[in-house]
Amino acid sequence: MPTAASADPDPAATATPGTRPPSAAQGQSGQDAVRIEGLHKSFGTLEVLKGVSLTAKQGDVVAIIGGSGSGKSTMLRCINFLETPSAGKIVIDGEEIEMRADGSPANRRQIERIRTRLAMVFQSFNLWTHRTLLENVIEVPIHVLKVPRAEAIAQARTLLQRVGLANKEDSFPAFLSGGQQQRAAIARALAVDPSVMLFDEPTSALDPELVGEVLTVIRDLAAEGRTMLLVTHEMRFAREVADHVVYLYQGQIEEQGPPAEVFGNPKSDRLRQFLQSVS
Ligand SMILES: Nc1ncnc2c1ncn2[C@@H]1O[C@H](COP(=O)(O)OP(=O)(O)OP(=O)(O)O)[C@@H](O)[C@H]1O
Ligand SMILES: [Mg+2]
Repeated sequence: MPTAASADPDPAATATPGTRPPSAAQGQSGQDAVRIEGLHKSFGTLEVLKGVSLTAKQGDVVAIIGGSGSGKSTMLRCINFLETPSAGKIVIDGEEIEMRADGSPANRRQIERIRTRLAMVFQSFNLWTHRTLLENVIEVPIHVLKVPRAEAIAQARTLLQRVGLANKEDSFPAFLSGGQQQRAAIARALAVDPSVMLFDEPTSALDPELVGEVLTVIRDLAAEGRTMLLVTHEMRFAREVADHVVYLYQGQIEEQGPPAEVFGNPKSDRLRQFLQSVS
């Protein structure tokens, strides 16, 4: 059961009380929302990220594609410090994360504050199973961001309505389909009004007939200008919603560019083979 202290906690759940993230709407288009430079990550002797650099501007949807084990999840997890990078630079909304030489965070308070600007949506939903959907969505706003309860409830109802779950606020996750649970997880992520949303294969645990309803919600968020980093194996969807596509191969960016080029005219043989293997 996911809790604030579990291995995959909701990032915002560890935020400093009383801090509110800037609204996504406040970010100015054209500014860098996320910039990573020379990101390295090793697990013991296994070097998983070998110097990855990428930038997402405000409002950008960056799709990250690549084979299993190429480092996609590790990269997202480094961005919100669920994993400690081994080296490199991470800048969120223009603020550089202070790291020690070994990549570990030098300023815990800064990490907690910056995490409130990021929201991660996991493959496995990670809802709190012993709470209703409404309780899931209001938890972090009330207990971390100190939003008054009535306001948090009103906002949560709007968000649940937005993801098509207005009539499910009193349901527990176990009584919902995977698609409904993932839409609730997206509503929970939106409740902190994140400036950047990190999606890690949000539809890959779903039965095929439930994928579309979740993609529709993500498509709407993209259309409203949410900045997103989206790890996905839904290539058609990536081509449709992404402004920029990054292909990771063995911990390095093998190729990147606009979707029409990456999908329509891949330059690298590895990317070409990968696209053939997933089509
Ligand atoms: N906590 C960890 N400890 C040790 N090795 C890890 C850990 N997390 C990931 N790895 C290894 O790092 C490599 C990259 O894993 P990662 O989960 O980032 O890949 P991925 O691109 O997300 O793959 P998938 O498409 O299967 O989700 C893999 O070899 C994996 O076994
Ligand atoms: Mg992964």
